[in-house]
Amino acid sequence: MALRPVLKFPDKRLSQLSAPIEEITDEIRELARDMCEVMYDEPGIGLAAPQVGEAIRLVVVDTEWTEEDVERNPLILVNPELSEHEGKIRWKEGCLSVPDFEAEVDRAERVLLRSTDLDGKELQIRAEGLQAVCFQHEVDHLDGTLFIDRISRLKRTRYVAKRKKQLKLEEMDEDATGDT
Ligand code: NI
Repeated sequence: MALRPVLKFPDKRLSQLSAPIEEITDEIRELARDMCEVMYDEPGIGLAAPQVGEAIRLVVVDTEWTEEDVERNPLILVNPELSEHEGKIRWKEGCLSVPDFEAEVDRAERVLLRSTDLDGKELQIRAEGLQAVCFQHEVDHLDGTLFIDRISRLKRTRYVAKRKKQLKLEEMDEDATGDT
């Protein structure tokens, strides 16, 4: 079965506020499975539902997996919330929805994550470093924020220009290939 495509900037659906999940249905479980497949396939260390076009508060992360690992232990987060932001850390981030770009972002060094899992069980995780950064990046997605919204205006503008050029080239490429 084909994997769900990841939406890319400047798709407007990436800027939407996602709705809380009221009930964990089979559809939600299926979506979580699909999202894990996409995350490991890309590969990435996190993926939020709006990145595959579903405006709901669901996130999958795995900050420990490497491409050589056979074992996969994704964390599936339903309605994740962050509190107790402490310290400061600057981290170079990228995003599956922001092609060919990385930039340093200022984040809290430590956060407390509260969430439920797919069985409705409550989770509390004190995260730091990479995991804390990843949680903040993914919860941002649920609020319609991309990491490029957290960098300097100059850097963002430069990226947007580069992305526009890239899209134009892709378009020309498609025209050249044709739809026969
Ligand atoms: Ni992202």
